[in-house]
Amino acid sequence: MADKNPELMEKIVSLSKRRGFIYPSSDIYGGYAGFWGYGPYGGDLGHNIKQHFWDKFILEREDIYPISTSIIMNPQVWEASGHVSGFADPLVECDKCHHRFRADQLEDKNKCPDCGGSLGNERQFNMMFETHVGAMEDDSSVSYLRPETAQGMFTNFKNIIDSFHPKLPFGMAQIGKAFRNEISPRDFLFRSREFEQMEIEYFVDPRDPKKIDQIFSDFYEEQQKFLHEIGLTPAKIHKIDVPAEDRAHYSKKSIDTEYDFPFGQKELLGLAYRTDYDLKAHVGKSSADLSYFDEETQERFIPHCIEPTMGVDRLVMAVLSDAYTEDDLGGEKRTYLKFSSIVAPVKAAVFPLLKNKPELVAKAREVYQMLKKEIPNIEFDDNGNIGKRYRRQDEIGTPYCVTIDFDTLGENPDLKDTVTVRDRDTGEQRRVNIKDIVSELK
Ligand code: GAP
Repeated sequence: MADKNPELMEKIVSLSKRRGFIYPSSDIYGGYAGFWGYGPYGGDLGHNIKQHFWDKFILEREDIYPISTSIIMNPQVWEASGHVSGFADPLVECDKCHHRFRADQLEDKNKCPDCGGSLGNERQFNMMFETHVGAMEDDSSVSYLRPETAQGMFTNFKNIIDSFHPKLPFGMAQIGKAFRNEISPRDFLFRSREFEQMEIEYFVDPRDPKKIDQIFSDFYEEQQKFLHEIGLTPAKIHKIDVPAEDRAHYSKKSIDTEYDFPFGQKELLGLAYRTDYDLKAHVGKSSADLSYFDEETQERFIPHCIEPTMGVDRLVMAVLSDAYTEDDLGGEKRTYLKFSSIVAPVKAAVFPLLKNKPELVAKAREVYQMLKKEIPNIEFDDNGNIGKRYRRQDEIGTPYCVTIDFDTLGENPDLKDTVTVRDRDTGEQRRVNIKDIVSELK
């Protein structure tokens, strides 16, 4: 079990805001509990994580269909899926201050952690956000913001079958927002009320349980590889075989992956064997034919489903906290984000050594323009002195800084058309010929 480190958490929250990664939602109004927004670097960090998911689980394979379904769906979807009746957390309310808490997260279920008052009876609180669709605001117009992206895939199963006639096994994937009216949003992005999921519903032949086991464990391995590739430290990642009593209502087998966040070891992502629970439930409610016809055996059946699911925001938090590093460089304390190059929002920064020398600035601009064609996520910076620029780039996790100096211009003829390339982690600099920078950085 990892030690909790609230001080580290505060530093990460503060750096995230100061450097443009993550802002509280509606900040000028004092924020809004459970809602966050991404600044330019956080947006790019999240984008790079999503792109890596897209590359690995969709583009590099032939068997997963990407889709993008609506956030608000026919409310019958949520009745069929069991969310209307069962997607609830236990809620208790303090008799004195009327603050509300999730009962399963309290150490003492009788005493209010805020004022010490006594807590009332536990009741189930449905976490779906309700809204009304259309001009009438009555029971007939109630609808919900989706609490998971998964149902958009089950309800489009027939569309994919009809359009593409895929052979089992095949999957569907989508990245999109999900909403849960969490009773106690907490721990920065970890438990928020609006978040983004990357989910796959992978349909398998129920007649071959051995193959189902194999596909389940292959997905587990793929999830682990994905986490290592985006830069998470393997020793901070933990496999949890979820016991039956803790599994979601639809799951026959679940493996959660937990991570050592600064606030403790908590769920990062999941993998569940949802069987034919969802497709059958939608057949029951909609009467649609959600079966699969096996041409070879001439049999018709409802496929089973394996679901790897990840939360983008929890991954962003894990990547940020794994990357956060403090050290001494050249006798000076510094903070830097040790991002893997896959997720780093800025891949390289280009500087002129001095801001007030037009010939240096012009050459630096030329190198920047040349690099930007090959590596779009790069920055040009001529603010402040070079030390300040390095510190800023370290704090946003830029792996390399390229500096144009007088030797680049030919002051030392042997070094003409070379630049210095500084490594973020070691602070070491080496000279590289301008024509080789792209391949060196890549
Ligand atoms: N379709 C299955 C499903 O939604 P889940 O375990 O409830 O399963 C999947 O959610 C993932 O979504 C979690 O592993 C987590 O990464 C993310 N997630 C869930 N609730 C969240 C919340 N309140 N805030 C941020 N991320 C959340």
